[in-house]
Amino acid sequence: MTDLDTALRAQLRATLDATPWTAIGGKKLERYDGKVRDCYIDRERGERIIVVTDRLSAFDAVVGTIPSKGQVLNQLATFWFEKTAAIAPNHMLRVPDPNVMIARECAPLPVELVMRAYLTGVTSTSIWKAYEKGDRTFCGHRLPDGMRKNQRLPAPILTPSTKAAKGDHDVSVSRDELLAMGRIDPAVFDRAAALAAALFAEGQRHAASRGLILADTKYEMGLSKDGAITVIDEIHTPDSSRYWYADDYEARLERGEEPRSLDKEYVRRWLANDAKWTGDGKPPVMPDEIRLEAARRYIASYELVTGRAFVPDTREPVARIAAALGAS
Ligand SMILES: Nc1ncnc2c1ncn2[C@@H]1O[C@H](COP(=O)(O)OP(=O)(O)OP(=O)(O)O)[C@@H](O)[C@H]1O
Ligand SMILES: [Mg+2]
Repeated sequence: MTDLDTALRAQLRATLDATPWTAIGGKKLERYDGKVRDCYIDRERGERIIVVTDRLSAFDAVVGTIPSKGQVLNQLATFWFEKTAAIAPNHMLRVPDPNVMIARECAPLPVELVMRAYLTGVTSTSIWKAYEKGDRTFCGHRLPDGMRKNQRLPAPILTPSTKAAKGDHDVSVSRDELLAMGRIDPAVFDRAAALAAALFAEGQRHAASRGLILADTKYEMGLSKDGAITVIDEIHTPDSSRYWYADDYEARLERGEEPRSLDKEYVRRWLANDAKWTGDGKPPVMPDEIRLEAARRYIASYELVTGRAFVPDTREPVARIAAALGAS
């Protein structure tokens, strides 16, 4: 066993599942728990303290924890926010702990900006499922006939998705449908769309230079206090993106095999195919071997994308982060 594997195994019983604090730096803060991130909101300072936990969400539910996942996600987001800062403003202010990002609090746009370069997906609402059942327009984009699953689209497309209330599934819409809902200013949407396209182009370019394909991704954006459209939440992580290995993509496409992926697809496949669970009812308990393999893949995505070795922080996470933030 490698040192990394030993560390990951030891972490199986000590992942960061939840944070218990009510105050940071002696100040009582508002709190919002997402599926993956615990957020402490300091309205006075206009800052959001985001603790990226090890929780894994799939089919819109939390299904358990993966060793080192929070650290991988936070450090990958840090890498990409630094790399793309000249393309689009983002919310990152400071990273006081491997699992924490202190961000500029923004007013989130009521839409997720999904960029897709490939005809793929597994859920009933995916572009591939729509194409398979005969649809030739998706979110207002015309799709050519005769395409195969996982094939590259003629050009990347934006398929906006409206943010559903907690627990509901998001819905894909065209620009016209979205604007007809009247929840977003057309000029703001078009500017956000242009930023998403530019970020995705940079993401694809860098991924290709590292032997990877960035097949699709999802951006969240918000308006900062001074009105700047700002990337929030996360960027180009394996939770928000599909990453495939480029080297055998073509050969596998020819043979009708699924691409080798670095994202959550591994866990989704285990849930759907082995545990027969696709989101209804109580999620199954993930076996340790599945959690370990998922951890290896998350870590591989960090190392491949950044070209840096991943060094897991093995200190007990709740006490460590409390000390870094002055949380109680
Ligand atoms: N800079 C920011 N300003 C305001 N909100 C933000 C910012 N960054 C992230 N958020 C919000 O914080 C939350 C992060 O939690 P997480 O990513 O776990 O949520 P999620 O499970 O993806 O979404 P949900 O909110 O539906 O649970 C999200 O609601 C996200 O929109
Ligand atoms: Mg999120």
